[in-house]
Amino acid sequence: MKRDFLSIKDFSSSEIQELFELAKELKVKRYNPEKLKGISCALIFEKPSLRTRVTFEIGIYELGGKAIYLSSQDIGLGKREAIKDVASNLSRWVGLIIARTFSHNTIVELAKYASCPVINALSDLEHPCQALTDLFTIYEKRGGLKNVNLSYIGDGNNVCRSLMLGANIMGMNMKVATPKGYEPKTKCKMQNAKCKIVNNPKEAVKDADIIYTDVWASMGQEAEREKRERIFKDFQINSQLLKFAKPDVLIMHCLPAHRGKEITDEIIDGKRSIVLDQAENRLHIQKAIMIKLFV
Ligand code: CP
Ligand code: NVA
Repeated sequence: MKRDFLSIKDFSSSEIQELFELAKELKVKRYNPEKLKGISCALIFEKPSLRTRVTFEIGIYELGGKAIYLSSQDIGLGKREAIKDVASNLSRWVGLIIARTFSHNTIVELAKYASCPVINALSDLEHPCQALTDLFTIYEKRGGLKNVNLSYIGDGNNVCRSLMLGANIMGMNMKVATPKGYEPKTKCKMQNAKCKIVNNPKEAVKDADIIYTDVWASMGQEAEREKRERIFKDFQINSQLLKFAKPDVLIMHCLPAHRGKEITDEIIDGKRSIVLDQAENRLHIQKAIMIKLFV
């Protein structure tokens, strides 16, 4: 049975712990060319990417596989050719499909018709590779996840949803502060973690061990950017807001950042920021995920 990674919920807490252990090893010994030896991997990207594309391409190389990058212009996913046909053709040649799409349903359909594993490299609904990396980064910094207080400030988007689902799996507490109407929509019941959704960022940062933010307008929402900048202006991570937080709070952002919008230069470049550790860890965690899907 092939295994996909479409949502962070696809791994249990013990599997996530195993992924962390593996990522720690891969961080020390990066080159393991026997792990994906002879496996070609298709990277389908409908949206731009720096971190995800580069870390998957390097990761596949370091594990001995071959990456083939396919933009939407190259293959016309769902336009030039049905998603089902793209999935079944690719399955005859490649051993793994990694896809970044506008609609989450596109990835679900790719996974349904592909006989090889499919990894979600970001959809409108989730960004599980990012969230798993973020949990690993917090785990490294705080020595564990249980009862860590993570506060997410901004839009209740794909990254926020995956973090909430991940926090629930790992028993982390989460507060989310968004403007009214921009709260995360997730069907998940937070049984294992305390989760509170508020509309006041000051309330959310109090007691936080980690403050996390992301862009106010995600890819595909560019037309709403100006409107969102007006609505979200009080949700900026800046020195004023941090006066309400603990002095040793850590600052996270999945990047790319819109400096001067959701976060100021002073904070993203400041001593509490761990955004580059997150970016680096994308490589190690994604390599661990790829290995796990073939075990
Ligand atoms: N964080 C992240 O996924 O970055 P990219 O969009 O550059 O891949
Ligand atoms: N929420 C952002 C994340 C980018 C990595 C987006 O979807 O554009």
